[in-house]
Amino acid sequence: MGEDLKSRRAVIAGVGAGGLTLALAACGGSDTTTAAPESSAPAASSAPSSGAPAGNGGLTTTSEIPVGGGKIFADQKVVVVQPAEGQFKAFSVRCTHQGCPVDKVENGTIVCPCHGSKFKIEDGSVANGPATDPLPEQQITVSGDQISLA
Ligand code: FES
Repeated sequence: MGEDLKSRRAVIAGVGAGGLTLALAACGGSDTTTAAPESSAPAASSAPSSGAPAGNGGLTTTSEIPVGGGKIFADQKVVVVQPAEGQFKAFSVRCTHQGCPVDKVENGTIVCPCHGSKFKIEDGSVANGPATDPLPEQQITVSGDQISLA
């Protein structure tokens, strides 16, 4: 009977130590799995294989973008605008409200179809809610009449 008790104690002690080790291991493990916040994906892609009609890896040509307006490039997820003659800018098409892609440019604004947010073509700032943050600007390069994503 005495021996029974002894061996049971040994088992309990073993489990206790094992449990502690596991707990420590789990603790250390969780430290290394700190989730990185969703980073803004680098949009840079040097592969000109998107099937876009514009040649030379370019996105479009300056003549395609109306002055005071713009054009949506859904495949490239970018909207290119020309707020003033000869001045070209590009913004992400992802609405800062809930992420719908904006789908048209009218009256000097870039319009989201989901809840009606509008962004100014001059700087992407909000012209009409519910969005509160501006559209992120995208880098483009204009070379001659070719517009390319930078
Ligand atoms: Fe664009 Fe709501 S997602 S207005």
